[in-house]
Amino acid sequence: MNDLDQLVAAAQADFEHAATPAELENAKARFLGKSGRVTELLKGLAALSPEDKKTRGAEINQTKQRIEAALQASRDKLADAELQAQLKAEALDVTLPGRQRGAGGLHPVSRTLERIEAIFGSMGFAVADGPEIEEDWFNFTALNTPADHPARSMHDTFYVDTRAADGTGHLLRTHTSPMQVRHAVQHVKAHAERLAAGLPMPEIRVIAPGRTYRVDSDATHSPMFHQCEGLWIGENVSFKDLKAVFADFFRHFFERDDLTIRFRPSFFPFTEPSAEVDIAFADGPLKGRWLEVAGSGQVHPNVVRNFGLDPERYIGFAFGMGPDRLTMLRYGVNDLRLFFDGDLRFLSQFQ
Ligand code: DAH
Repeated sequence: MNDLDQLVAAAQADFEHAATPAELENAKARFLGKSGRVTELLKGLAALSPEDKKTRGAEINQTKQRIEAALQASRDKLADAELQAQLKAEALDVTLPGRQRGAGGLHPVSRTLERIEAIFGSMGFAVADGPEIEEDWFNFTALNTPADHPARSMHDTFYVDTRAADGTGHLLRTHTSPMQVRHAVQHVKAHAERLAAGLPMPEIRVIAPGRTYRVDSDATHSPMFHQCEGLWIGENVSFKDLKAVFADFFRHFFERDDLTIRFRPSFFPFTEPSAEVDIAFADGPLKGRWLEVAGSGQVHPNVVRNFGLDPERYIGFAFGMGPDRLTMLRYGVNDLRLFFDGDLRFLSQFQ
């Protein structure tokens, strides 16, 4: 290998060693730059005879071309590596599944509420909605619940700190029963002229589903839960009607005919007599167990009076049931808290 071959080899090694375009340009300057090694060789020609100048000059030019070719090869290699790195960084995996819009769905308790509204709607019941922050009067007093009633205790009720000088205040409603009074009072107002003329009032037939709140929390109680109130008031509405309404409702709700209903004597301040309603299935996983599904009773005369009606003329019944519990029974869920944890793995099973 002569000196020129060695120079080409050195340049080639230097170029290949360069990791970046900037390093490569520095390497180029060492060989082809103004004071680079090839330029130095060309300067050396001046001292040679014209004959030697010719051959040596041609050799140096060849050497220069080989070095330039090596430089170009290294440039191409670097550019190629850069392109590959960029392609890799921006790679799209076209085999990944596309982003889909998640299909939403109704919460299982909302499904139950919709079923309740549809079934009672088919029996001529209107659906009423009212405030969750309720006045003391509607939640307790108007419902014949005296000041010393245990339900009024701080242990059971979330009070909102707005107590006025006259002792009236606000609370998170502990049941949907205040909607009985709110709705009936409105109904009576709407028919005030007929009532004043002694004409019969169109019956009150309403349900009021919604959220309710109590200081309570375990597997079957949540501080926020749902209730659905029912009220049917007329001149001749009796327990017999209540039983028929319940039988119809629960058979439709559970899509079962093998269902027995039982009224168990109980106590509520706003009804007299009062009853708990139990149901039992003749078949299936819940066979033979009495399941408590509602409280009910004939509306107490004091409450009828608070509706603005004469209890000697108007009579009827009220009931309150728990849509959360109905949802648990219908779907076989044994922990109420699952409904309100917001875990999609649980909730999406109902879609
Ligand atoms: N409000 C009652 C409760 O929360 C349930 C209830 C019982 C409602 C009897 C009624 C009724 O309308 O008549 O436990």
